[in-house]
Amino acid sequence: MFLPKTALYFLAATYGVVSAASITDVCIVGYCTLGSGTSGGKGGETVTVASLTALISAVADNTPRIVVVSGTISGAAKVLVGSNKSIIGRNSGHLVGIGLFLNHSSNVIIRNTIHSKVLSTYEDAITIKYSTNVWIDHVDFSNDRDHDKDYYDGLVDVTRASVSIQNSRLHKHP
Ligand SMILES: *[C@@H]1O[C@H](CO)[C@@H](O)[C@H](O)[C@H]1NC(C)=O
Ligand SMILES: *[C@@H]1O[C@H](CO)[C@@H](O)[C@H](O)[C@H]1NC(C)=O
Repeated sequence: MFLPKTALYFLAATYGVVSAASITDVCIVGYCTLGSGTSGGKGGETVTVASLTALISAVADNTPRIVVVSGTISGAAKVLVGSNKSIIGRNSGHLVGIGLFLNHSSNVIIRNTIHSKVLSTYEDAITIKYSTNVWIDHVDFSNDRDHDKDYYDGLVDVTRASVSIQNSRLHKHP
């Protein structure tokens, strides 16, 4: 009797840690555990960004870095995300009108962020191409239903890539 209860408690505790989203969590489920795994920017510096220019420079290269998106950043841009990055939302970390674009990137974690209203010029809220070991967790994607279907692109688009998406919400998309 004692042993199964302990095992269950351990499982619950493990999932609790995942949803609390420590900024250094690594992926433990799905495709992102393959190969060398997905630890994002763990081990690198932590940078908190609150502007579009700060975000662009924090995610551009392939240097391991934890990028904390604090509060709402609005803009009209497609931001190229390099390898070895954790992009973590804090204080309702919300990108409005800013698409994230992964192209030949690997080992990227995007968690606890909110993405909305990215115009189709900037592709999807998150566009992932030719990339591997990507973990998207606890992410909220939305647009609105006030425009036709080509005003915004999709919410998340994955092509020729290997990605784990979990605990996320896609809504208000025409
Ligand atoms: C990711 O970071 C590791 C460790 O610093 C490095 O060996 C690897 O080359 C980086 N990946 C890319 C695509 O630069
Ligand atoms: C994606 O990367 C490839 C190879 O580096 C490049 O040829 C292509 O132009 C990039 N695509 C975009 C949309 O940046």
